[in-house]
Amino acid sequence: MIAVAIDGPAGAGKSTMAKKAAAELGFVYVDTGAIYRAVGLACIKKGIDEGDKNAVEKLLQEIDISIVFLNGEQHILLNDIDVSEEIRTENVSMAASTVSAIPEVRKILLDLQRNFAKRDNVIMDGRDIGTVVLPNAQVKIFLTASPEIRAKRRVLQLAEKGEEADYTTVLTDIVKRDYNDTNREIAPLKPAENAVIVDTSNMTLEESVKKISEIIKERADI
Ligand code: DC
Repeated sequence: MIAVAIDGPAGAGKSTMAKKAAAELGFVYVDTGAIYRAVGLACIKKGIDEGDKNAVEKLLQEIDISIVFLNGEQHILLNDIDVSEEIRTENVSMAASTVSAIPEVRKILLDLQRNFAKRDNVIMDGRDIGTVVLPNAQVKIFLTASPEIRAKRRVLQLAEKGEEADYTTVLTDIVKRDYNDTNREIAPLKPAENAVIVDTSNMTLEESVKKISEIIKERADI
């Protein structure tokens, strides 16, 4: 099995690149952020403070999170209900970042993520895939871009969906999430020792996808 780990900060374009590269190579694409988002959404729905370790741990015993693939596309189920769209709000992003700092949350979600790499060739994106989830991945990429560029791209992406967003608010959220994800004690966001670092600040989407595909083919020898 071949495993490709793509880590990096919020809004670096990991999912877009990983999806395209996976389609090109015939690999299964796994978005691990969706799993943390489902936990964040569950907290919001139940009115639980996402930073309350005990309450979140108790909630984890009561909910069921699973991933299914429909026409090759990942869907995330929370208690058997498809919440793939509902998890994509800014509120849920921040809630996911907060719950992801709780060690028990990370521990419980570890096997769920690792199992995918046992069954298929995968491209998995997240924050700790190369460092913790799949430390033996043949290819590790750390994808990044400046916070300002990431915020700009995010605003454009939302505009394409017909949603208006304030650049400064988006930038503030990105910087806050970077801080949370990088400074947590367990499995913080950082490049794996043998990761290739790709800064896409000055690259177009096409250039970035090309670069990622080249790195994967070269490192995985395919
Ligand atoms: O990739 P994303 O923006 O959907 O992730 C949402 C949050 O989930 C992110 O801010 C931190 C957390 N996360 C994580 O801690 N580890 C991962 N492998 C993926 C996401």
